[in-house]
Amino acid sequence: EETGKSGYDHFMLKEIHEQPRAIRQCLRGRVDELSGEVDIGDLGDLSPTGVQFVACGTSYHAALYGAQLLRDAGIPAQTFLASEYATAPPPIGDALVVGVTQSGETADTLSALREARKRGARTMAVTNTVGSTAARECDHALYIRAGPEIGVAASKTFASQLAALNLFSLGTTRIDGAREIIGALRDLPSNIQAILDDSNAESVADTYVDSDAYFFIGRGHQYPVALEGALKMKEITYKHAEGFAAGELKHGPLALVTEDTPVFAVVTGDGEMARKTIGNVKEVEARDAPVVAVTDGQSDVERYADEVLEVPETHPQAAAVLANVQLQLVSYYVADKLGRSIDKPRNLAKSVTVE
Ligand code: G6P
Repeated sequence: EETGKSGYDHFMLKEIHEQPRAIRQCLRGRVDELSGEVDIGDLGDLSPTGVQFVACGTSYHAALYGAQLLRDAGIPAQTFLASEYATAPPPIGDALVVGVTQSGETADTLSALREARKRGARTMAVTNTVGSTAARECDHALYIRAGPEIGVAASKTFASQLAALNLFSLGTTRIDGAREIIGALRDLPSNIQAILDDSNAESVADTYVDSDAYFFIGRGHQYPVALEGALKMKEITYKHAEGFAAGELKHGPLALVTEDTPVFAVVTGDGEMARKTIGNVKEVEARDAPVVAVTDGQSDVERYADEVLEVPETHPQAAAVLANVQLQLVSYYVADKLGRSIDKPRNLAKSVTVE
């Protein structure tokens, strides 16, 4: 097992560092270098008029992001926790039901997909595992090609899911600014590498390793990143962590914010969304909470931050992948400093095959 870690202390750190390669594999042959067009084979003919995503855990966060991409393209898209899907199934109409599942074996996701099929829906799996149950049972499969992931807490598979969902939305819909998005996807491997080479996440982890709780906020494409940042922190550090839509902070969670609760704010771009999230950052700062801005430096959020985790400037959709890398590293280093069992956190399994 030690040799498999290629010199890294943990599989998770190795897999975080494998993300440039994972994304390259995901894009290979699917993005035409010359025309800048996306080719996802037969899947490109799906032309969905509606999409319902079902997923669990980290994959649910990827699904939230994927649904947003489709809505950006004018396609009605919703996301359901797989374990809740069958409790009050939504009208399916002619929607495509998409299970996002790294393993392709998660019982809750398989059962939601089966429920959808029983109701006559076409189904698709977005998965890392060729030959998995989800891939076999669904009408279609989109492979994320991240390579095997050993760490129980998902890292590179999340990045690859986001990339694959971009390919799906670009390949099946008409999107304004598609060329720009494709360019940003192509730049992802080198931009991730730049973060890995130069991140100050370990020093941020050092500063806040003793905190009681951690909060993560983001808006739009960065909202699923906030949720994923918090999930990663919970899973591998065993510390209390919550992710919120930035605008929702004032509707309750703000009561939890104190000088002992660092708030990680994901703020990219310099538009309306950044401006609003900075408004939320100021509310946090006024309660003396330490603010860690994850930012591309386009806005002035740094003025209100105690620490900054930088990401290269890019399209906001791609920025989500980059911001997540910084948050993965912070959680990893907090967990490492606490001596946690990073690759096999207590009570968790890589793939949960019971409902
Ligand atoms: C387990 C893992 C999580 C994962 C979830 C969904 O709970 O511990 O890391 O996100 O299953 O897994 P899937 O294979 O369906 O993506």
